[in-house]
Parts: sequence; C-alpha cells; structure tokens
Amino acid sequence: MEKISILGCGTMGHSIALSAAWAGQAVKVYGVNDKDLENAAKGLRSKLKVMAENGLFNEAEAKRIKEHIHFSTSLAEVVEGATLIIEVIPEVLELKKEMYKKLEGMVGEEVVIASNTSGFKPSLLAEEMDHPNRFVVTHFWNPAHLIPLVEVVKGARTDEATVERAMNVLTAMNKKPILLNKELPGFIGNRLQYALFREAQALLDSGAATKEDIDAAVTYSIGRRLPITGPLMTADMGGLDVFSAISNYLFEDLSKAERSGEVLTKLVEEQKLGDKNGEGFYKWGSDISEKINAEREQTLIYFLKNDMKLNGEDGK
Ligand SMILES: NC(=O)c1ccc[n+]([C@@H]2O[C@H](COP(=O)([O-])OP(=O)(O)OC[C@H]3O[C@@H](n4cnc5c(N)ncnc54)[C@H](O)[C@@H]3O)[C@@H](O)[C@H]2O)c1
Repeated sequence: MEKISILGCGTMGHSIALSAAWAGQAVKVYGVNDKDLENAAKGLRSKLKVMAENGLFNEAEAKRIKEHIHFSTSLAEVVEGATLIIEVIPEVLELKKEMYKKLEGMVGEEVVIASNTSGFKPSLLAEEMDHPNRFVVTHFWNPAHLIPLVEVVKGARTDEATVERAMNVLTAMNKKPILLNKELPGFIGNRLQYALFREAQALLDSGAATKEDIDAAVTYSIGRRLPITGPLMTADMGGLDVFSAISNYLFEDLSKAERSGEVLTKLVEEQKLGDKNGEGFYKWGSDISEKINAEREQTLIYFLKNDMKLNGEDGK
C-alpha cells in the first residue's frame, strides 16, 4: 500500500485526506501555519459530522477516520517515508514548480508526485523537474470526499508505472479515476463545465433571462438527467439525427467568448466573490449559505450511497 502525504490543507487538501482516511489509509497532511491547520481541523470535524448524521458511518468510525489523519506545518515531517505525494497548494504555476523543486531535494526519485491542479497541463508543471517520469496529475473535484471522479493526466515524460500507481491508489480510495488519452488544459470535466458557464454568462449578459431562470433551466432539466447519462449517451437516447441537426444550426449561435462576461467581470472587480464573502451573482447570508450547502451535501451523499449499493458495499 502506498504511503500518502498531502501538501496543502485548504478546501481540497483536507477533503482529499478525508477520502483516503475513510478508505482506511493513514495520511500525513502539510499546512503552512497553525491557523491553516486549525481551519482544516474545523472543516474535517464538520464534514465528519454531516457524514455521520447522514448514515455513512457511525461515531466510532468517524473517530477512527480522524485518527488516520496527521497534520503538521513541517514539510520534512510530512514527506518523510511517503511513497506518493499529492500536491494541493494554490493554482499558481511558479508556486507549484518551486514546490516540486523542493520536494525533489527531499525525497527519492521513486516517490510519485501528483498534482491536484484544476487545469495546468502536467508537461508544463513538470518542465523543470529532474525526474518528470514520476509526475502525474490527479484532479479531484470539490467536495473531494463526496465526489467520486478523479481525472488522471500524464505528461509527455510521465512513466506508465507512475500512472498505474496513481490509478491504484485512487481505486483503493474508492474513487472513480479516469485516465485521459492526452493532456489538454482543463482536462475533461472543467472543459465541459466551463463550456456551460460561458454560455450561461452570455445569456445573462444579453438579458435573455434572469440568473434564477438560467440556473433553473439547468437544475430542472439537463441537470436532472446528467447524474444518470452523460452528454454523449443522452444524445444516443434522444436520437443522433435530432442532436446532429440541432448542433448544425445552433453551434454557430453559441458564445465563443474568450474572457469572462461583463456581469462576472464587474462582480469580481467589486470583490463580490460569492458564498465566501456574502455576495456574488446571488446574495449569501449565513442562513442561506448553510441551507444550500447542507442540501448539496445531502444530495451528494444520497448519490454516494447509491454508488456504494451498486458496488455491493454497505451504503446504509
Ligand atoms: N477549490 C476547488 O473547488 C478546487 C477543485 C479542484 C481542484 N482545485 C485545485 O486544488 C488546488 C488547491 O486549491 P484549494 O481550493 O484547496 O486552495 P486553498 O486556498 O483552499 O488551499 C491551499 C492550501 O495550500 C497551502 N498553501 C497556501 N500557500 C502556500 C504556499 N505558498 N506554499 C505551500 N503551500 C501553500 C495551504 O495549506 C492552503 O490551505 C489548486 O491547484 C486548485 O486549482 C481546487
């Protein structure tokens, strides 16, 4: 079994650690300072509470999971003895490259270094590494403890053995890893997500509908089908002649914007960043934020329990 270390304990880092610990693997997690670790510990406690309340496991299991996660502000302590390191630090290219340089001076060349980057190509991330053969992208989705998909992306110089080790460790974490045939920015999930987001912004900017109605058009229609059939199988079920005919007149009318839309750009300039600071497209009081976040977690847990039943695990 690989010995996993996770670098970064923010939104994604502590939730990836939770996934590993839930699957019975001990993990060491690095945070930049005590405040960073306190936030991670708080996030971990609340996630475990929601998971226990929704019947994924009992209190004793929650305690065991917590004990599997060891936090530290010492990078040396966290990477010591690791066989597979997952880097989950901010999406800043130079910061990530600096971290790999530091790591290569600290661990043997047999240690796999994986990045949770949201979209940088692995060949770009690894371009200054001494041993890029041990580098691979493992892109988890937020919230990582509840979303099964992990995109695995190899760079031009990544070894097959590195890919195999990453796929094995993710499978052991009860994830659904998919391996891309080639590297491209944004991988698959974010390319699809941002195609939808670009069109949603174009509709909003043009005044075609309100933000509420644009969101409703997704959650009450295609959103209802997407958990069951992806876009290609959905097309098969609708009839490819129909989907092709619509593609042929509609594509030319879809947004081809190369930057964020007007409304989004203005909101960001005004520091209206969404749930995290009270206002974005919507207004986010603490009560509404708690309600929507809880609803989303409960629904994700419902899906996860279904997956576990399908896989013959105890999803009750
Ligand atoms: N948030 C998401 O929805 C999401 C989803 C998928 C992938 N990602 C990717 O995961 C990575 C981390 O994102 P996040 O949302 O968890 O970020 P975050 O800001 O919540 O956490 C980043 C963590 O990195 C560490 N860190 C901060 N500055 C550092 C530095 N200078 N050197 C070393 N470590 C430092 C800290 O532990 C910090 O908590 C990014 O590459 C991001 O693109 C994020």
